[in-house]
Amino acid sequence: MSKMYKSSGELVNHWYAAGQSKAFKKGKPQSVVIFEKPLVIWRMKDGSLTVMLDRCNHRNAPLSEGKVLNDCLICPYHGWTYNKEGKCIEIPSEGPNVDRIPNKKVESFPLKEAYGLVWVWMGKDKSPTSAPFEMPVMKELGWHSYYMETKFSNTVTDLVENFMDVPHTVFVHKGWFRDRKQICIKAKVERTADSVLVSYDQPNDSIGFSGWLVNPKELPMKHTDNFYMPNITRVDYIFGGNERGFIITSTCTPVSPYETMVYTLISYKFGWLTPIAKLGLSAYTRKVINQDVWIMDVHGKNIQRFDETDYHSTQCDFMHLYIESLREYATNADEKSIPEPTVKEIEFWV
Ligand code: FES
Ligand SMILES: [Fe+2]
Repeated sequence: MSKMYKSSGELVNHWYAAGQSKAFKKGKPQSVVIFEKPLVIWRMKDGSLTVMLDRCNHRNAPLSEGKVLNDCLICPYHGWTYNKEGKCIEIPSEGPNVDRIPNKKVESFPLKEAYGLVWVWMGKDKSPTSAPFEMPVMKELGWHSYYMETKFSNTVTDLVENFMDVPHTVFVHKGWFRDRKQICIKAKVERTADSVLVSYDQPNDSIGFSGWLVNPKELPMKHTDNFYMPNITRVDYIFGGNERGFIITSTCTPVSPYETMVYTLISYKFGWLTPIAKLGLSAYTRKVINQDVWIMDVHGKNIQRFDETDYHSTQCDFMHLYIESLREYATNADEKSIPEPTVKEIEFWV
């Protein structure tokens, strides 16, 4: 079992995005790594998907290099053939002697397709206790959305903190998302049993890509940043009641300790400009995310260079401390005390 999987405690008992639905084509096995566990996913004739460990029971060749025939996966090495339950149904070198097939299945996992993503339940001892995270406003009138896929060289904890972090925007995204004006922002930060919810009091603030597109009427802005255990952030900028808006939902999939795949759903409602906003918006969001890829890369490398963290925090880091407390408790419940529900009022300058 992979070291990361073993040391992740309760964090594995959740749904993790393995990719966008459209990436999994019929007849083509696909390799995916989650918590350092190599998996193979393939699509049946009826469109359903199956996921199992990417390791043949015979001599452990990777099944993802094999072929799909009649909904079965055939190992590329000696042709052992597995059905979607991971049961070996044929060993070519044994001819008709099916009784000689070892009675051991390749381990498989629960899988669901929802909101344009393929989700794998990584829990071993627990069956799914919930549904995959509901991606926002996908079916709501006036909203459009698209996914971005980004590989980051940092941990899930540091990434979700980055996605919830306001002060970095005036440095890492200077001139692109927010410029430094030294305005004071007040916020309420709340920790529940499985989320960290931040609501900002900044009705007159503006973000990035110019007011004329996002908020031409200068409606008051409502900004919330929410983290949902163990790996999802949702950042909302809503203008007026629900007249216009921009929502960034990110789900993080740990590949290895310092490698994380992030699926970012960009949702937007910009009035009559919505249908044509995509082109400019996708270039813009790619530019901004790449700035985070860079800072997360150098940050992650530095943590590894020192082989430990020595963090010091101020008011605007409360949400980060709360995220860390929830994720650390899920990792080592025996060694940590349960994080109590808490609410804090904070203020900081950007
Ligand atoms: S290793 Fe898979 S059939 Fe031999
Ligand atoms: Fe950022």
